[in-house]
Amino acid sequence: MSNTPLPQPDAEKRRGFFRPRVWRWLGIVAVSLAAGVVLLRLNILPDTGPVQPGWIATGLSAALAFLLGWVTGHTLVWRLAAAAAPPAAALFVLYTPPFWVLPLLLIVLAGIFWNVRSERVPLYLTNRRTIDALADLVRDLPQSENVTVVDLGCGLAGAVHALAVRLPDVRVVGVENAPLLYLAARLRCGLFGPRNAEVRYGSLWSEDLGAYAVVYCFLSSEPMPRLIAKATAEIKNDCILVSNTFTDLPNTADEVVLVGDSRETHLNVWRF
Ligand SMILES: C[S@@+](CC[C@H](N)C(=O)[O-])C[C@H]1O[C@@H](n2cnc3c(N)ncnc32)[C@H](O)[C@@H]1O
Repeated sequence: MSNTPLPQPDAEKRRGFFRPRVWRWLGIVAVSLAAGVVLLRLNILPDTGPVQPGWIATGLSAALAFLLGWVTGHTLVWRLAAAAAPPAAALFVLYTPPFWVLPLLLIVLAGIFWNVRSERVPLYLTNRRTIDALADLVRDLPQSENVTVVDLGCGLAGAVHALAVRLPDVRVVGVENAPLLYLAARLRCGLFGPRNAEVRYGSLWSEDLGAYAVVYCFLSSEPMPRLIAKATAEIKNDCILVSNTFTDLPNTADEVVLVGDSRETHLNVWRF
């Protein structure tokens, strides 16, 4: 254990919605939509083929959004989100859905991607082979029965559920703060999960990591330095932090386990 002070989010991160990156992304969407409209207005798109000019403009506009997202260094999720804007706008114009569809859509998206803006952690899920490798790491602990494992940011609780099934003597806790994901995870474990699986609502930054023998996470590079510092300050002797793929730079992990899946997943392990 050490008393390393936790690094604080920098000013850029604290400004949240006012970050230049957010505005850049909105700018990309606006420019791509405008380019699609200009193409249509110029009447230069072929209208004799099987695809109508409106859809050609939509496709080109989506491709431009993706390309601009790539050039400006946005992650794949944000590039795809920008590319989805032109088809969404075209469908909206064509079918004019009832007034409540748009707010409902926004609420659903906010419920899923609640913390993407502040934490820079999108939703992707741990696969089966990685869960097998993680279960092996738990079994290899000096004391592996009646311990507790936590998945920080458990998403839909796939990893929590699968790990609890594989390790019936281990309590597996998932912590999640995106409201809809939490709800889905809670229902999944509450209705269909084994008794040793549990899901709690809350931020991973409020968790006392000293309560767990294994702290597992699958986040992004962004929170890793702060999380490693928190783990170093809180995790007890003989316990481990396992991060799926992401780490600090240079990697300070004590061990890297290659899972051998098609994603080339590696588990970075810090031993305390
Ligand atoms: C990449 S997903 C991983 C999901 C799951 N752990 C898995 O491996 O299948 C990351 C999850 O972390 C959640 N998350 C991000 N920041 C969080 C925070 N501060 N507190 C709790 N959960 C958070 C996100 O909502 C998302 O569901």
